[in-house]
Amino acid sequence: MPRLRTVYRCTDCGATSPQWAGRCGPCGEWNTLVEEAEEAGPQPAHQTPWAGPVDHAVPIGEVDMGGSAERPTGLGELDRVLGGGLVAGSVTLVGGEPGIGKSTLLLQALASLAGRGERCLLVSAEESKQQVRLRAARLGALPPDLWLLSETAMPGVIAGVDGVKPDVLVLDSIQTVFDPGLGSAPGSVAQVRECAQRLVGLAKERSLATILVGHVTKDGGLAGPRVLEHLVDTVLSFEGERHQSLRLLRAVKHRFGPTGELGLFEMAEHGLAGVPDAAGLFLGDRREGVAGSVVVPAMEGQRPLLVELQALVAPTSLPMPRRSAQGLDSGRLGLLLAVLHRRAAVSTEKDDVYASAVGGVRVTEPAADLALGLALASAVADRPFPADVVACGEVGLGGEVRQVGHTARRLAEAARLGFRRAVVAASATDPRNGVEVVPVATLGDAIGHFGLYRSK
Ligand code: TYD
Ligand code: MG
Repeated sequence: MPRLRTVYRCTDCGATSPQWAGRCGPCGEWNTLVEEAEEAGPQPAHQTPWAGPVDHAVPIGEVDMGGSAERPTGLGELDRVLGGGLVAGSVTLVGGEPGIGKSTLLLQALASLAGRGERCLLVSAEESKQQVRLRAARLGALPPDLWLLSETAMPGVIAGVDGVKPDVLVLDSIQTVFDPGLGSAPGSVAQVRECAQRLVGLAKERSLATILVGHVTKDGGLAGPRVLEHLVDTVLSFEGERHQSLRLLRAVKHRFGPTGELGLFEMAEHGLAGVPDAAGLFLGDRREGVAGSVVVPAMEGQRPLLVELQALVAPTSLPMPRRSAQGLDSGRLGLLLAVLHRRAAVSTEKDDVYASAVGGVRVTEPAADLALGLALASAVADRPFPADVVACGEVGLGGEVRQVGHTARRLAEAARLGFRRAVVAASATDPRNGVEVVPVATLGDAIGHFGLYRSK
């Protein structure tokens, strides 16, 4: 029996310390040290010469590309986020809060892959085979090439992979498997990291496309060390409001493709359904004629999304007025309020300011500045902004409006959804796309053009 000693491990960077401290020395994070048992005594020294395989350098043009092509999963929205599909030998971590739909998404992906002739193994370390089968039946997905295993110990997982020899492996979840050979408790940082490391090795060794499910803590971090994110090739984050049906999937890290793409799903009675035409999705509950509302044609990856930005301004009773930004960058909100004050004579010094992007999306690109500035001015003036006008442009510290990328695609999408006019930077090249363009040089010009000044 190995002798155990207590160490304190940082849940963020994985560093250990012999004593507890409020702050992790190596990474500087607060309150991240947790108690853990570790084998005492000297770590085995690497005295034997390395006898493993040795790689050989080759000219870049002669690198064998066999097996590294993406295999589409058949779920369009998932493939969009993955940049085509799953790559053999790659490890993908899917993070999300409990109940958001991770198990459902991956079961659907495996069923679809199995239907395309891929051999798939789903290892559930949280649910019994019966529970998984029940869910699969509800989703109408019982393909013969989808194998199930209910196992929490790593040796059992590896034996399952040896037995089934799958092309694609899903492990649900990385926090609930454990290696009995390690001294630390299941679910501890050391266990999560060691198990993930074993699975990454297994994936590379057998060219096995592997997907790990990871639970996310309340503050949005993965419940496990940050090193987990470094170990894997791709990190996908599955988000949404649990009481709403919309789910957003995005790549936070991706070694084989872009990270900006957004996948959209709706959780329905028979599982997740992709939402391929999402452009107008966030405009459903819009009320026209209300001050403080402006629509921005935002870009999420390669896809334009029209999002309503709302602002509300109310006299404050606080010595420090409130500034609240939901789905928007609070730094940019502060910047725009300062620009409005100094460059456009729109003051909110004595007001609380609330701003939000409607529908649960996050709009953080600077292209939303102009729309947010106009929404704020409209709220201050208590005058509605015309409902058939969109606005996009970045606002500089001088109050100038700068052109943004993809203007033509943004405006084309706005036109398709029935908007008639678009406020854009005067410098924007060829922004004509079925809408009438209102070119502006400054935020003040735009405010003046729509008469959004507070009446005295
Ligand atoms: P689940 O995939 O178990 O979430 P996670 O693995 O992220 O914890 O999904 C849980 C929720 O999804 C659950 O509250 C029920 C809902 N759901 C549906 O609405 N429709 C369905 O067809 C399925 C399978 C689940
Ligand atoms: Mg689950």
